[in-house]
Amino acid sequence: MPLSGVSLLDTKHLSHQDLQLIFSRSDLIREPLLASQRIQAWESSTPRRPVVCCLFFEPSTRTRMSFQMAAYRLGLEVLTMELSSGSSLSKGETYADTVLNFAAMNPDLMVVRYGNSPELDALLPNLNLPVINAGSGTMAHPTQGLLDAYTLLREWGSLRDRRVLIFGDVAHSRVAQSNFDLLSRLGAKIGICAPPMYRPQQTPDGVSEQFDDLDQGLEWADAVMGLRIQLERHDTSAQREFAAQEYHANWGLSAQRLKKLKSDAIILHPGPINHGVEFAPEVMQDSRCRVLAQVTNGVVIRAALLSLLLQLKLDQKSLEFPKVSGVESGRA
Ligand code: CP
Repeated sequence: MPLSGVSLLDTKHLSHQDLQLIFSRSDLIREPLLASQRIQAWESSTPRRPVVCCLFFEPSTRTRMSFQMAAYRLGLEVLTMELSSGSSLSKGETYADTVLNFAAMNPDLMVVRYGNSPELDALLPNLNLPVINAGSGTMAHPTQGLLDAYTLLREWGSLRDRRVLIFGDVAHSRVAQSNFDLLSRLGAKIGICAPPMYRPQQTPDGVSEQFDDLDQGLEWADAVMGLRIQLERHDTSAQREFAAQEYHANWGLSAQRLKKLKSDAIILHPGPINHGVEFAPEVMQDSRCRVLAQVTNGVVIRAALLSLLLQLKLDQKSLEFPKVSGVESGRA
């Protein structure tokens, strides 16, 4: 079976066949998963449930909790090490040694989030178990890219020639990197709009349009994705100070700018949102906003990935759970 036992460290390693498999598995498990139903995903004759080990060396709400939720819904065991959990990191142990020690405990799969770290980039592909990258520095956030693509696919059926504008702190965003790769390979046209301070030095692969003016970008787009200012990744005081100045007026999706969007446009944001900065408070109430649908789809995509990488045998009966409605905010 493709994807069984492999690691997911970057979307660039996923073939079109892999993508189709992930999205079709997501469609298969979506209804029962969202019906608060546990899917029997491991055989009761198996001596132990698969154990998923989550290591988060950077803060997270959505990714961490949705991996836990996905594992719970699949009936897996999940162990999570928090940043503040009193681990030996506080005694100076390195991230690489922490990963190696968790790997030595023989979990079935590891989920890791970390900041820019060439050492972990080199180590993770060589572990003797499947690893999922839950966000690595400014480099990649493959499961976020997948859930964003899946959210748009559920709206449009196909991304072919659809226009997606990604705006905000593009230069420091791992979410943007994964979306450039995935959405462009699925046929979308990608535009970016960022203040000069947060603009990539070169046009990233997959990007076909650059807008200096946010209003023009909003008018061009079929979907827009706002990005948080990544203060923790800014290495110059000029970048940090710039963020504090009049950002919303020039570069934010204000209540006024919502009127520039097409009537059937889709509004996305990977979260966390800084209200009043990249998004006006009104955005979450706009009928075109799919931000919470993204979060719901994050559980579905991550459960699909866990089931594929761990080669779980899904019990047919638990997949036939009746359809439900009203489990998510926004259409998705
Ligand atoms: N989108 C995202 O990665 O959110 P968290 O940092 O809360 O996981």
